[in-house]
Amino acid sequence: KTNIAVFASGTGSNFETIVKAMEAGRLDCNVSLLVCDKADAKVLDKAKAFNIPTFVFNPKDYDSKADFEQEIITQLEAKQIEWIVLAGYMRLIGTTLLSQFESKIINIHPSLLPSFPGKDAIGQALEAGVKITGVTIHYVDEGMDTGKIIEQEALRVREKEDRDSLQQRIQELEHRLFPETIQRLVSNNLEK
Ligand code: GAR
Repeated sequence: KTNIAVFASGTGSNFETIVKAMEAGRLDCNVSLLVCDKADAKVLDKAKAFNIPTFVFNPKDYDSKADFEQEIITQLEAKQIEWIVLAGYMRLIGTTLLSQFESKIINIHPSLLPSFPGKDAIGQALEAGVKITGVTIHYVDEGMDTGKIIEQEALRVREKEDRDSLQQRIQELEHRLFPETIQRLVSNNLEK
């Protein structure tokens, strides 16, 4: 089976759905490693509960991005990781990782890119007053949420919808779309 690593910095609800999809047999791969750049992230409790190995690091302990990415590569190689899935990993990927995992790193973003890249995409969409937003899954390049788009799904913003409601509906959409799309990628069922 294909080994994948999930990178996350926060709550880890997407991490959890990916692991559950794997356990339910809807995702034909092993989530073999969680990489996390925050020692107090909630996603670490989830990894523990599901018995998924973790690599936790503090970027400040390294001289440069190249240094910590080199350490990440060592960890990934030890687990024979083929795909990297970013699920709320709030850090740009550098050339060290990109060159080693070319076209093998994907990210999920809570807007219809290229609208609202970067932080707080849901807040940005509400602020802009758009009627339609959604979720994007894309390949990762050196830019901020700029890589080639793999999959998108739209969602209609409700009249006077508040942030919590929109966030919840975006996340429900993510939790369905992400495992489905990863499955299509690892089973090679998708054009590159
Ligand atoms: C997700 O909504 C994901 O789309 C977003 O962070 C959230 C993580 O939630 N990612 C970005 O905004 C990337 N720019 P989770 O930790 O509960 O999976």
